[in-house]
Amino acid sequence: MKTTAARTLHLSGMDVFVYADSAAASLAAAEHIARTIEHVRLSRGTCVLGLATGSTPTQVYAHLVERYRGGALSFQGVSTYNLDEYYPIAANDTLSYHAYMYEHLFRHIDLLPARAHVLDGTIPEPFVAEHCAQFERFIEAEGGLDLQLLGIGRNGHIGFNEPIDLPVERARGLRTRMVELHPTTRADAAREFGSVERVIPRALTMGVGTILDARSIVMLATGAAKAEAVARALAGPPTMQTPASLLALAPQKTTWYLDEAAAREVV
Ligand code: GLP
Repeated sequence: MKTTAARTLHLSGMDVFVYADSAAASLAAAEHIARTIEHVRLSRGTCVLGLATGSTPTQVYAHLVERYRGGALSFQGVSTYNLDEYYPIAANDTLSYHAYMYEHLFRHIDLLPARAHVLDGTIPEPFVAEHCAQFERFIEAEGGLDLQLLGIGRNGHIGFNEPIDLPVERARGLRTRMVELHPTTRADAAREFGSVERVIPRALTMGVGTILDARSIVMLATGAAKAEAVARALAGPPTMQTPASLLALAPQKTTWYLDEAAAREVV
């Protein structure tokens, strides 16, 4: 089954599907992921997924869980790598992305725990660089990411790749590393942490290069709060001032799933 978009656009070389609401956009993104798991596993016997957190993909995970429960989807042979994690944070902290993934996906499905990879927010600081490099080597050893699921920050970030002054060629080369959160990201995370002051100001994140090396990229953005960032990202040209605009460097493999609210400033 394939959910039909209300509108289809082609912007900066990328397919952009626009749906009436977030439920339909999330279902379409979930269908895309489920198709990839099925096709890739048929050809390679395995499938390597890059996963995202935040409020946006929760409906996607609910759909994937529903399919698993209905017997239409299995995660056997699948490996997952999450985009990012706060630093420092314990895996059992309810605000961690470890806890998020366990709650929304991992505990419900037949994914082998040893194949679910989330960057470790407890690694002592002197070993963080090596931990990040190892995360990259693990992905490479599995043959690379078949699909990376993404959300977008209000400032246009992807993962925790925040807007910075950096030439595109150098941004393209960014790999998994420790970063500082942008004030907009901290303001948005205050929802979960209770106040801006309590938001953990650093994080570990896959790099723009790690993301762009995936064989396919699914960007899901819903709600009016994302409209401006979405419009800037799709208008081009690629710039690290709007990190999501760098997806236009990999146009053939990138698909945007939007609801009308998030698409309303797209021209
Ligand atoms: C967070 C995450 C991103 C996510 C974004 C949007 O900071 N690091 O990966 O895409 O913010 O989050 P939300 O979906 O809650 O709007």
